[in-house]
Parts: sequence; C-alpha cells; structure tokens
Amino acid sequence: MMRLLLLSVVALVALSAGYTRAQETTTEAPPTTTTPPPYRNKWIVKDALTGTPCILFDANVTVSVKYTKFNSTSKSDFVNVDVPLDAEVDQILSSCGSIDTKKNVTAQKLYIKFYPVNFTTNATDPWTMTFYFTEDKKETNGKAFGLYKIELNAVYKDYPQFIDPDVPSETFESGTSFSGVVGASTNHSSQCSSGDLSLNENAKIHLNGFRAQAFGHSDDFLTSELCDHDVRTSDIVPIVVGACLAALVIIVLIAYLIGRARAKRQGYASV
Ligand SMILES: *[C@@H]1O[C@H](CO)[C@@H](O)[C@H](O)[C@H]1NC(C)=O
Ligand SMILES: *[C@@H]1O[C@H](CO)[C@@H](O)[C@H](O)[C@H]1NC(C)=O
Ligand SMILES: *[C@@H]1O[C@H](CO)[C@@H](O)[C@H](O)[C@H]1NC(C)=O
Ligand SMILES: *[C@@H]1O[C@H](CO)[C@@H](O)[C@H](O)[C@H]1NC(C)=O
Ligand SMILES: *[C@@H]1O[C@H](CO)[C@@H](O)[C@H](O)[C@H]1NC(C)=O
Ligand SMILES: *[C@@H]1O[C@H](CO)[C@@H](O)[C@H](O)[C@H]1NC(C)=O
Repeated sequence: MMRLLLLSVVALVALSAGYTRAQETTTEAPPTTTTPPPYRNKWIVKDALTGTPCILFDANVTVSVKYTKFNSTSKSDFVNVDVPLDAEVDQILSSCGSIDTKKNVTAQKLYIKFYPVNFTTNATDPWTMTFYFTEDKKETNGKAFGLYKIELNAVYKDYPQFIDPDVPSETFESGTSFSGVVGASTNHSSQCSSGDLSLNENAKIHLNGFRAQAFGHSDDFLTSELCDHDVRTSDIVPIVVGACLAALVIIVLIAYLIGRARAKRQGYASV
C-alpha cells in the first residue's frame, strides 16, 4: 500500500516536472504556433520581376464609414460594408518596394479593389483600399514589419445603401501606425482572431481574424506570432492543467503521510 502511494507520488512529481519543462521551452521562444494549413482566400502581392510573393494577407474584413447626406450638416451612423473574400488584388498598383515620400520610408503596398458583399447595385466604380507595410523601425514599434498606413476610397454613388450622398465618393487616410495590431518579429507572420483599425472618426476597418506577412520571400506564411489577446487565451488551458496537477500531488502526498502515520501507530501498537 505504502509502496503504491510512494510510486504514484513519484510518477506525479515526474509528470508535473516534465510538464513544467515543456511549458518552459514553449514560453522561451516568442509566442508562436505551428504553421496552419494554407488559407483559401489569401491576397498576394508578387514581385513584378521575380514573381516571388512579398505580401500575403488573409483576413475577413468589414469596412465602416459615416457619410454626409445631401443638404445635411451632420454625418450618418456607421454603414457597414463587407469585403468579399475573392476581392481582387491590383498587381500594378500594389508594390513590393516603393518610397513613401510623405513618411520617408520604404513601403510595400497591397491594393485591393472590391464591390461590397450584398450591395445590389449597377455601380461601375469599385471601392479600393490600400494597406501599407514597412520595415522602418520608426513606424513599426521595433517589429520586423508593420502595417503603418491605410487608404480607403469609399464609393457612395450608385450604391443604394447610401441614400442621397453629398459627394459621389470619399477618400480616407489613416493618421497613426497600426503596427501594434498587424506586425511581427523577424521570420514570423502576424496572426490574430480580431483587429480594429480606426482610420479616423468617420472610417474604421474591422478584421475578423487575420494573418499577414510583408517583406517575405515565400508562398506560404512563416510561423505565426499571435497577438497578446490570443496568447493570453491560449495560456489559460496550461495554467488550469498545471494547477490540477499540483493539487493532485498535494492530495497524494497528504494521503501518503496519513497512511504512514497510521502504519507507524499500528506498528507501535503491535510491539
Ligand atoms: C437643399 O436645400 C435647399 C435650400 O435649403 C432647398 O431648396 C432644397 O430643396 C434642398 N434639397 C434637398 C434635396 O433637400
Ligand atoms: C529620410 O530617412 C533617411 C534615413 O532613414 C534620412 O537619412 C533622411 O534624412 C530622411 N529624409 C527626410 C527628408 O526626413
Ligand atoms: C449575403 O446574402 C446571402 C444570401 O442572401 C446571405 O446568406 C449572407 O448572409 C449575406 N451576407 C451578408 C454579409 O449580409
Ligand atoms: C439597375 O439597372 C436596371 C436597368 O438599367 C434598373 O432596372 C435597376 O433598377 C437598376 N438597379 C439599381 C439598384 O439601381
Ligand atoms: C530568418 O530566416 C533566414 C532564412 O531561413 C535565416 O538565414 C535567418 O538567420 C533568420 N533570422 C532570424 C533572426 O531568425
Ligand atoms: C474568415 O472567415 C471564415 C469563415 O468564417 C473562416 O473559415 C476563416 O478562417 C476566416 N479567416 C481568417 C483569416 O480568420
């Protein structure tokens, strides 16, 4: 009986030690997961000369804009526009290396043209949005790459969900860098279950799950670096498992000590 108890204690201690070690090795490296299977609808920008992809971007995107009605002085509520997954990347207007003279950085650009999901329309002008990535540390928060600017061209004319708009279309440009949301360290892609990118008070972009990589040289995403929010969520399970193991060890230890004390007393009694 005692031997059995001792054995189970040893086994549990060994188990928890092994688990802790496994945890340590995973937390030593930057927060990462293994590369998941390729996405169906990733947007790709290819180098014009070599054909090697430099930007890979996979996201479920909702754009929200406020517009002004004709003769009105106030803005509407936010109108949501879903970007279709098969939205087209314009390879000519996209770029694997251009100079952003305004910000004085080297940029890679992803230029997407789309007709909003479920907008029954005869409109001929598509909406466009451009995502600007850079490696320049002054815009990336120290990361290897980051999304530092977005330009959005919203078209209202001929889209029936925009009633009587004051202007046929409108261009929005973000003022602050988004590298805190979309960005990763060297040899990593950036992944998160959600991301909010506010261009200004009248335009915002919600990413309902995304994976992004810029300044890359591969067809597939590199190891993902999860956003803080997702890392915390994935930490909860190991913490719970660890706590359960610790509790088990303590319970078995107490049982063993009680058993030993009892055995001792019985031993004395029989003498
Ligand atoms: C716009 O305002 C002007 C002057 O207030 C008015 O005459 C006109 O009918 C208004 N137009 C619309 C479409 O409301
Ligand atoms: C642009 O950046 C380079 C180096 O990053 C710097 O040498 C140069 O002075 C900058 N130019 C302007 C106009 O800020
Ligand atoms: C678009 O329309 C389809 C078919 O009516 C519907 O299943 C889908 O949920 C709609 N999507 C959005 C974003 O409204
Ligand atoms: C699209 O065009 C057709 C014919 O030109 C017209 O009957 C229809 O009302 C138009 N639809 C919209 C949403 O403007
Ligand atoms: C990134 O990957 C390249 C190619 O595999 C490798 O040469 C380089 O050392 C890596 N850099 C870091 C910081 O891991
Ligand atoms: C986008 O949404 C689809 C359907 O909900 C999902 O399968 C896919 O993983 C999402 N993409 C990303 C990058 O999260």
